[in-house]
Amino acid sequence: MTNSFISGVGHYVPEKVVTNDDLSNVMDTSDEWIQERSGIRERRHATPGLETTSSMAVEASKMALKNAALRSEDIDFIVFATLSPDFDFPGSGVLLQRELGMQGIGALDVRNQCSGFIYALSVADQYIKSGMYNNILVVGSEVHSTALDMTTRGRNISVLFGDGAGAVVVSATKQNKGILSTHLHADGDFAEELYLENPGSRHSPRITHEMIDNAEIYPYMNGREVFKHASTRFPEAITEALQANGKTTEDLDLLVPHQANMRIIEYIRKTMHLPEEKVFVNIQKYGNTTAASIPVALSEALQEGRLKDGSLVCLAAFGSGYTWASALIKW
Ligand code: ACO
Repeated sequence: MTNSFISGVGHYVPEKVVTNDDLSNVMDTSDEWIQERSGIRERRHATPGLETTSSMAVEASKMALKNAALRSEDIDFIVFATLSPDFDFPGSGVLLQRELGMQGIGALDVRNQCSGFIYALSVADQYIKSGMYNNILVVGSEVHSTALDMTTRGRNISVLFGDGAGAVVVSATKQNKGILSTHLHADGDFAEELYLENPGSRHSPRITHEMIDNAEIYPYMNGREVFKHASTRFPEAITEALQANGKTTEDLDLLVPHQANMRIIEYIRKTMHLPEEKVFVNIQKYGNTTAASIPVALSEALQEGRLKDGSLVCLAAFGSGYTWASALIKW
């Protein structure tokens, strides 16, 4: 029986730090409001043209490959999760592949927003377990900053999101460890509760001066609805992953939740009766980096010595779609 395990982890965040005070210089907000509502103190913003979704993914991937002690030519396939690809098409997977000198292997882009990394991981897990591939690069990378309304009009969203990239290598093993199960869900009834409509193929032309003037080119979020659903779906997904493997929260060593919002993470932690040391949090530094948030968190958790051989680790995410997902891993 072939199992799949995470053999390497890496991340990259842009150089530019944007604090809450920096934001309050360009919009009507405050450090106090942002910290109280979200737990975020600062986030990173990419330098346009220099730090792109694919270029940050390249840096995160190089770190993951080094951590796995593998070379580019060892990778058989790429799965790239992002809601902010460099181009409308092609996807960012091929750009990453080109930069890493992996021409010829398949590159799949996944569009599942905050759950994107777990969806991508599940694809890699199944390809490895079926015997199709031995080493798969799974990446989550986002540049939100270029699509945020940095005026008071957009403050309910702009203060929450940040840029960054994380990557893992998923490899085959005969040992009794690795990804135990993944669980994927979606409910398209709520597609417009958190979405970015324009530019989109529903309109001809896809972008107009009017859309720009009316600020219709920025994401929309019904914050209260998202909060309500997230606080139900996160615990459900975590419980599903534990139950599928005959485990309880007592067995869990580390929960690595999508870093959506500190209030959501705290709500999950209390609902699941988990002590603070069993929940990984870095939202205060990066904000919500969507598909990148879990692999960035995994990379920092590894650096901090919080992922040890044999640790039982749960990943969980909820986001736009709505989509939600979980994975249970024996590290
Ligand atoms: N600074 C100051 N005031 C603000 C800001 C801001 N950045 N944003 C909104 N406000 C104002 C609003 O205009 C409103 O003012 P009003 O009462 O005069 O109309 C007031 O603050 C309260 O606004 P609400 O939207 O009701 O604030 P709420 O307490 O619901 O908090 C928040 C908003 C933080 C977005 C909350 O709804 C939330 O946490 N939702 C979850 C959304 C989330 O985490 N999304 C992340 C992406 S999805 C995911 O990853 C799961």
